[in-house]
Amino acid sequence: MTVKEIQEEILRLKKEKDICILAHSYQAHEILEIADYTGDSYVLSKLAAQAPHSTMLLCGVRFMAETVKILSPEKKVLLSSPIAGCPMAEQFDKDTILQFKAQHPECTVVAYINTTAELKTVCDVCVTSSSALKIVSQIDNPDILFIPDCNLGAYVAKMLPDKNVTLLQGGCPVHAAVTEEEARQAKAAHPNALLLVHPECIPAVSAQADYIGSTGGIIDFAVKSDSKEFIIGTENSIAEHLQYRCPDKRFYLLSKSLICPDMKATTLIDVLNCCQGTGGEEITLSADTLSQARRCIDAMISLGG
Ligand code: 13P
Ligand code: SF4
Repeated sequence: MTVKEIQEEILRLKKEKDICILAHSYQAHEILEIADYTGDSYVLSKLAAQAPHSTMLLCGVRFMAETVKILSPEKKVLLSSPIAGCPMAEQFDKDTILQFKAQHPECTVVAYINTTAELKTVCDVCVTSSSALKIVSQIDNPDILFIPDCNLGAYVAKMLPDKNVTLLQGGCPVHAAVTEEEARQAKAAHPNALLLVHPECIPAVSAQADYIGSTGGIIDFAVKSDSKEFIIGTENSIAEHLQYRCPDKRFYLLSKSLICPDMKATTLIDVLNCCQGTGGEEITLSADTLSQARRCIDAMISLGG
């Protein structure tokens, strides 16, 4: 089968079976083309809750599929590639956070959405990379424990000096691997380009950026900007998607190592198998996990997220 034929079969099956395909922006181009909705974690979680379909198929990583299930427990939620996890989401377990809470009862525990459903059950408020500043600024408590990403957390702490933010040593192994020197070299090689980075990068890289934001924020910034050249400091697929979308602009990679193996685990064949009922994994969570993790996400929504 050609790529086009596989895509047509997926489109036929998803109509027949009332399946909504949600694809994170890091997915391959041929997957984004057949998705009902594409975007960053924030956009996907909002759209997932509104979609009328009976089955949701997530092309991305496990915590995203769990978030869809938490928001729409009555729906069948499928993860197209069961091996696609997010290492950062699994960096802390419930007991570590419960112990911290016992020692620091004054803190509000803020969980990046890149956390397991299980971990969200013991956290107070969820944030995404695009909503973190807005949500944390509206929390009626200066004392914050921000988990798991210490780089996003450091960015929030810098931007919101009134908050007393405690960080633990967690983070994205892909973004955090970019060095200060790589950023300097990329800027020297492309002096007319703006550097756009994800806040999961280390502070020494973010400090050199012209714009810091979520994947969706980076895409919007580059599309709307009058500038013609950009160095993209997030998963390298974003530079490729932007180059298709803006052929009159130039996009450079901040680092060749900005490749997330988990986000790359999903293939178009996985999506086809999932639609045919011969692949993927249905996400199941206990009633307690669903309701307790939902509190954390509802808190984000009530603060304007
Ligand atoms: P976004 O919230 O920007 O989609 O980021 C998700 C992610 O996993 C970034 O590495
Ligand atoms: Fe997780 Fe980093 Fe991959 Fe995003 S890029 S899914 S944070 S490992």
